[in-house]
Amino acid sequence: MKIAPSLLATGFRDLERNISKISNADYVHIDVMDGYFVSEKTIDHKMVGKIKTGLVKDVHLMIQTPEKFVKDYIDAGADLISFHIEACSDPSSLIKYIKSFGVKVSIALNPETSVDKVLNYLGRLDQVLIMSVHPGRGGQEFISASLDKIRIIRMLFPLLDIQVDGGINLESGLKAAKAGANVLVSGSFIFDSDCEKTIELLRKTNI
Ligand code: DX5
Ligand code: ZN
Repeated sequence: MKIAPSLLATGFRDLERNISKISNADYVHIDVMDGYFVSEKTIDHKMVGKIKTGLVKDVHLMIQTPEKFVKDYIDAGADLISFHIEACSDPSSLIKYIKSFGVKVSIALNPETSVDKVLNYLGRLDQVLIMSVHPGRGGQEFISASLDKIRIIRMLFPLLDIQVDGGINLESGLKAAKAGANVLVSGSFIFDSDCEKTIELLRKTNI
């Protein structure tokens, strides 16, 4: 199980200190919100560029027309980029474009979006991101209907990275792991606790 603490829970404050608390994680999950695709606004590519870490920079773009802005995030050092299927009119071209820079590519699906909408693309992705809360803010409750989506995708794509994002704690993390997820994003649950210990506990959910 790979663990991706979400900096959203820190309010993107005190970045150096907060990142030092999660040194045993795999990814650092960076939630970019534009005020259009979701009503909240967080950080932009300039701030993403300032985040210094040895962890994988996992950039979750909750933005409209990601094709217009994705290069800025590539230049800002993103290692993995998730864009939303609901926000993009030509996913095939965007997948190709991101890959052409040697950056990993992932498509995110909102809770109300069906798996059918992404089936055609899954074979070309490094990861799929299943939202288990409505995008826009941290600290919400895990939506159990997301488990069925994870199960379906895992059955069809045994090797694809399946990331689940929203409301992850030990209980929901275990359910997601059992359904077939292998990357857990967790914000408030990690940062409200002893981060390193919680990361290790979450890591064990798939044993
Ligand atoms: C929600 C974000 C999540 C969020 C998760 O829109 O995509 O990454 O930070 O936060 P928690 O773990 O608190 O639900
Ligand atoms: Zn996220």
